[in-house]
Amino acid sequence: MPFDFDFCPERSGTDSIKWRRYENTDVIPAWVADMDFASPPCVREALRRRLEHPILGYATAKQSTLDAVLAYLERQHGWKVDPEWIVFTPAVVPSLHGIIRAVGEAGASVISTTPVYPPFLSSPALSGRIAKRVPMIFQNGCWTFDFDALDAAAAETQAKVFLLCNPYNPLGRVFERAELEGVAAFAERHGITVCSDEIHCDLVLDPAAKHITYGTLGEKVAQTSAVLFAASKTYNTAGLLCGYAVIPDSSLRQRFRRALAGVANEVNVFGFVALEAAYSEGEPWRLELLEYLRGNLALVAAEIADTPGVTIAQRPQATYLAWLDVRALGFADPVKTFEAGGVGLGNGADFGEPGFVRLNFGCPRERLREILRRIRAVALSADSRRS
Ligand SMILES: Cc1ncc(COP(=O)(O)O)c(C=O)c1O
Repeated sequence: MPFDFDFCPERSGTDSIKWRRYENTDVIPAWVADMDFASPPCVREALRRRLEHPILGYATAKQSTLDAVLAYLERQHGWKVDPEWIVFTPAVVPSLHGIIRAVGEAGASVISTTPVYPPFLSSPALSGRIAKRVPMIFQNGCWTFDFDALDAAAAETQAKVFLLCNPYNPLGRVFERAELEGVAAFAERHGITVCSDEIHCDLVLDPAAKHITYGTLGEKVAQTSAVLFAASKTYNTAGLLCGYAVIPDSSLRQRFRRALAGVANEVNVFGFVALEAAYSEGEPWRLELLEYLRGNLALVAAEIADTPGVTIAQRPQATYLAWLDVRALGFADPVKTFEAGGVGLGNGADFGEPGFVRLNFGCPRERLREILRRIRAVALSADSRRS
């Protein structure tokens, strides 16, 4: 492999949110969705080149950056996008807020399915709206939408926004066309705008799955949606703060821009550089990353199968995140208990589902082996106490 994913740069003592939480402890962080891999050489080289120009003033997207985004959307996801539809933003989460604020009035409800990436649950209240939670259901061997429950929630709350996580963090689902068409039909029935967060769309691990961007379900569907993208999850550049929303409807786009004006409308100069380099030159690196992550996932699946009281809610089809059901271990506070055993996991309660933890397996294999060994040791000690 020309790229070395086993290489493990030291992150403790740096500015990393992931590592700072457990500084000066023996806890290995495996929580926030940020990988312990160096960003691709093409991205780092582009950033170095940009620094050769010593002026770092306010930035706007160059034509070449916009062209790279348009080419990427068409090549990777079969979506031919009008450049006017694109609004660059400093990351994806601000766009969730922007859509929530652009649609409906203060006090309105916003529907999210659970478990889900925590800002889906916190952003409505921070934007003066009410979060309505609808649990996903396990059907025919996988987690999917419960359209009866969604219809009931929409009718009850008169919600005007649905936050869709596509692919799904933390369940790792890559939705089939019929499921996404179900979302579109649900939205149409209730006059709902869909905000599809597709930040994980280039991290599909299951060779049998294919990401379908919500924007390609048809013109009418696209006109009542916003689709959010960033290169940051795939290429590990989240600290550079750059994302973009694709909003085909001009009125929604205008309201979105207004909602973010003065708050979150500028993009980091390096964010643009990284985005363009990743999309134009990063594909060989991404393909190897996916192979490495598939190897990591196989290790996770094998080790968790051998860990009493812990199960994977569903083998993830995408993302480098595994959603672990630890309810059988009977821990009052699973995250604290695993921390005491030397692993820092994501807290299911933050995702709307206590009793679960989220494991980030985007790290060098030897580190992952140690993380899994520690998870197993914690589970075995709980098991032996019980028996
Ligand atoms: C579904 C989802 N959306 C958004 C984000 C964060 O995006 P950003 O850092 O661009 O705000 C994450 C990070 O884990 C995520 O999983």
